[in-house]
Amino acid sequence: MKIDLIAGARPNFMKIAPIINAIHKAQSEGKNIEYRLVHTGQHYDINMSENFFRQLSIPKPDVNLEAGSGTQAEQTSAIMIGYEKLLMEEPSDLCLVVGDVTSTMACSIVAQKLHVKVAHVEAGIRSGDWTMPEEINRMVTDCITNYFFTTTEHAGENLLKAGINGEQIFWVGNTMIDTLLKHRPSFKKPPAWDEFGLEKGKFIVITLHRPANVDEEDKLKKLLDEIINNSRNVPLIFPVHPRTAKILKNLGISHPRLLLVEPMGYLEFNYMVENSMAVITDSGGITEETTVMGVPCMTLRDNTERPETITIGTNELLGTNPEAIKPVLDKLFAGNWKKGNIPELWDGKTAERIVEIITQKISDEIA
Ligand code: UD1
Repeated sequence: MKIDLIAGARPNFMKIAPIINAIHKAQSEGKNIEYRLVHTGQHYDINMSENFFRQLSIPKPDVNLEAGSGTQAEQTSAIMIGYEKLLMEEPSDLCLVVGDVTSTMACSIVAQKLHVKVAHVEAGIRSGDWTMPEEINRMVTDCITNYFFTTTEHAGENLLKAGINGEQIFWVGNTMIDTLLKHRPSFKKPPAWDEFGLEKGKFIVITLHRPANVDEEDKLKKLLDEIINNSRNVPLIFPVHPRTAKILKNLGISHPRLLLVEPMGYLEFNYMVENSMAVITDSGGITEETTVMGVPCMTLRDNTERPETITIGTNELLGTNPEAIKPVLDKLFAGNWKKGNIPELWDGKTAERIVEIITQKISDEIA
């Protein structure tokens, strides 16, 4: 049984790492399972890709499709052409994709058209927001997936509502949290900590990269101004995504408390989050990590595909109107943030459950 593991962009790497570890464990127990790690090359910078492979001990990819940057269609087609060539030359038995990035969708289409079954890790989550490329990626991928591994019960319900057979849905938990729990003891203080004289619980972490927030200069400026004006005397540490960096450069925004830094490694970034007072973000994955670490999280989006981070966790949805920022920062400074709990099965053992299902059930069906 040979599986292709697809990883393309930064949020894929922490989801794939524990699956590789679980496969190694299964191999050491004599199970018949092999993998080929395919990096699509969607993210290619040291900061966005290589550092994650090193820190999370992910083996060097067997293949790099080197798709690179481009428009949605350019990226999708480059990944599809590269992966189709690979699969035609050297077929595999199962294509396992994770998350909701362009690589996830592109590879699942290629595999299914070549009659290779598709497994989707993080299947079934939905924001209902078709303006985000990730929602289209989720919907297309789930339409042509054979095996659905879900993070929450709600994700499974979404799939059932869409007519998916319940026997194809496996509620296993969250592989991103496997990685978080495994590496939590080795989170690392980044140089920025001493450079800016940061103190535990006395700074806020910001991450912004969604087109809705960063592609319009005026919008981004208003959001940052509101955050700066309502964060009292607290330093704001902002590791800047390449997409956002291009726009920030034009804006020329600067303030003594706004500390702009390069994208951080996994261990450094989560050190910052764990020790912060709160996080302001438009990422989805970070809302899950803050929920597990019990850190207050404010999401600058109008919707979320991860509702449990709000109903169970520490996340609150603010929308993208800059005026929403002041009231929540006031609440944070008043010490009134909710405590939150950890969603079921986010226990660090998800990847082992996935590999067990693959070796015990899926491999029989595919054989
Ligand atoms: C992608 C994912 C998003 C994920 C995010 C995390 C899709 C549709 N989006 O968005 O879900 O949350 O990654 O980072 O797949 N760039 C670099 N270096 C790199 C990679 C990108 O400079 O290594 C630049 C590109 O040139 C481009 C911009 O960053 O201008 C955006 O990259 P892209 O992969 O298109 O999407 P992201 O915004 O990173």
